[in-house]
Amino acid sequence: VRHLISISELSNKEFETLVTKAIAFKKIIKEDSKSDILKNHQKLLGKTVALVFSKRSTRTRISSEGASAFFGAQPMFLGKDDIQLGVNESLYDTTKVISSMVSTIFARVNSHKEIQELAKHSSVPIINSLCDTYHPLQAITDIMTIKETFGNVEGLKLAWIGDANNVINDLLIAALRVGINVSVATPAGIEIDPKVVLVAEEIAAGNGASYELTHDPLAAAKDANILVTDTFVSMGEEAQTEAKLKQFAGFQISKEHTGVAAPNWKFMHCLPRHHEEVTDDVFYHENSIVFPEAENRLYAAISVLDTLVVNKGDFSK
Ligand code: CP
Ligand code: NVA
Repeated sequence: VRHLISISELSNKEFETLVTKAIAFKKIIKEDSKSDILKNHQKLLGKTVALVFSKRSTRTRISSEGASAFFGAQPMFLGKDDIQLGVNESLYDTTKVISSMVSTIFARVNSHKEIQELAKHSSVPIINSLCDTYHPLQAITDIMTIKETFGNVEGLKLAWIGDANNVINDLLIAALRVGINVSVATPAGIEIDPKVVLVAEEIAAGNGASYELTHDPLAAAKDANILVTDTFVSMGEEAQTEAKLKQFAGFQISKEHTGVAAPNWKFMHCLPRHHEEVTDDVFYHENSIVFPEAENRLYAAISVLDTLVVNKGDFSK
């Protein structure tokens, strides 16, 4: 069974396929919403899709439920208070049972180890819907959004100013796969996972894209076409809020950063957004593409469902 755990586990070509397909599905849905074409996609009619979410979600939940509906499947949202998982039943037993009854499982968990466990024991595709280390659905969406905005993406510079965890880990790998150069600025003491750096190194060596890791937000922002950030306090880190906000002093994206960026700069954010990581004048600027980015989550989820479930992991279809 083919799962989607991280962009690091895909080839460059497989990743591009998921992005291209997401763009194609968007076109179909936008242009043909009134025609019968939509009905032709109901290839999972009568089937079910499980959403096993141990954390809150707006975009991931809506897009995976929407994607299920697009293919005619019934999504089942199984939040942490709804099922026995973790309270009264082991992850192993839960995975065996759920996967015996559904077509695929979108899973939002705490640790990467949990998603690996799920993938190991599930008889159906596991779609990582956020763990502490990766967020592949977001990375597919973000590259799709960058392609829509810029057309040719090769040689663009993406600047990340923020934390070093799930969203940037997959975005760094994804951007390099399509030839976007990446500059990652994190506070000193917060470093990109060495395992992720190793993958980045390998991809960059293979296709000539470059990346740099810095602690200087303005250096990262210089001449950047795309400025990206995420919350400084991820879900599950609430107890560290004060310490983390102190660590991130000077990292709020503002006019200072857009002022040194390329004239055609765009701002992106996976959302949900808080004030500390970006000022309102950047977040709501006409160069901010955060809302089209959020909408594109739907098409990314459709693309992944089509590839892993409808086409049973065959990326060539
Ligand atoms: N970007 C994202 O994953 O948002 P949600 O947490 O709302 O799903
Ligand atoms: N880094 C954030 C992303 C939310 C979509 C978190 O883990 O909470």
